[in-house]
Amino acid sequence: MSSSLPTGGLSPRDPSRAPSRIRGFFTSIVRRYDRINRVMSLGMDLGWREAAADEVAGAPPGLVLDVGVGTGDLALAVSRRGRCIVGVDFCRPMLQAARPKVADVSVALVEGDALALPVPDASYAAVMAGFSLRNVADLDRALCEAYRVTRPGGRFVSLEMCPPRRWRWAHWLYQQVAMPVLGACFGGAVSAYRYLPVSIQTFPDAEGLVQRMEAAGWWQVRYRTLGLGAVAVHVATRPH
Ligand SMILES: C[S@@+](CC[C@H](N)C(=O)[O-])C[C@H]1O[C@@H](n2cnc3c(N)ncnc32)[C@H](O)[C@@H]1O
Repeated sequence: MSSSLPTGGLSPRDPSRAPSRIRGFFTSIVRRYDRINRVMSLGMDLGWREAAADEVAGAPPGLVLDVGVGTGDLALAVSRRGRCIVGVDFCRPMLQAARPKVADVSVALVEGDALALPVPDASYAAVMAGFSLRNVADLDRALCEAYRVTRPGGRFVSLEMCPPRRWRWAHWLYQQVAMPVLGACFGGAVSAYRYLPVSIQTFPDAEGLVQRMEAAGWWQVRYRTLGLGAVAVHVATRPH
């Protein structure tokens, strides 16, 4: 079973990641997004965000850009480490859900596309993406955009689901059966949650993502896996 799972067949023309479809997916689940994250990750997602936030906190001083900020949970974790963040997302309902959550912290929210960031070159000390790279229509372009807006010496941190190396059959079963059922029970959008397993299975594995990041120009790419290998935190530097 595991050998039949694609790992990284992400294509710029992948219809499952058409921007209108992705926006529609997140619009349909926005009210239950945070709750379903807790349920589907068995309560572990907040800890994963803390691990990614620790890596962002290790970047040189300066502003942090959160690409695909969504409802703001990763931005909140980073703001607790004393950083000012600008969160970009192309789904307005997700930004509206984030607004009250970040009202009292240093997080600004901007509508914009990860594939054409509304941000000058080399303007951020760090760029981060929490579970958003998997959803963009063109991964390589998103990695190049993140590179463009990061200052030389700055850092990129990705927190993302990835096909694990071990227990792939169990992971596959969880995605194919448990995720849509949990989505139906707690998220109220069973058809929308059929997209999730597809998005994970067609995303590069952790090593594959290293190669894609290096191809975009990132240096010193390293990663560690969490959640029994189903989640990876990648960290990279923009060279001087
Ligand atoms: C799974 S959510 C992650 C939200 C948040 N970062 C978190 O940690 O919970 C993915 C987010 O990426 C956004 N997104 C997907 N493609 C995008 C794009 N091309 N430009 C901007 N945002 C995008 C979606 O609208 C969604 O809010």
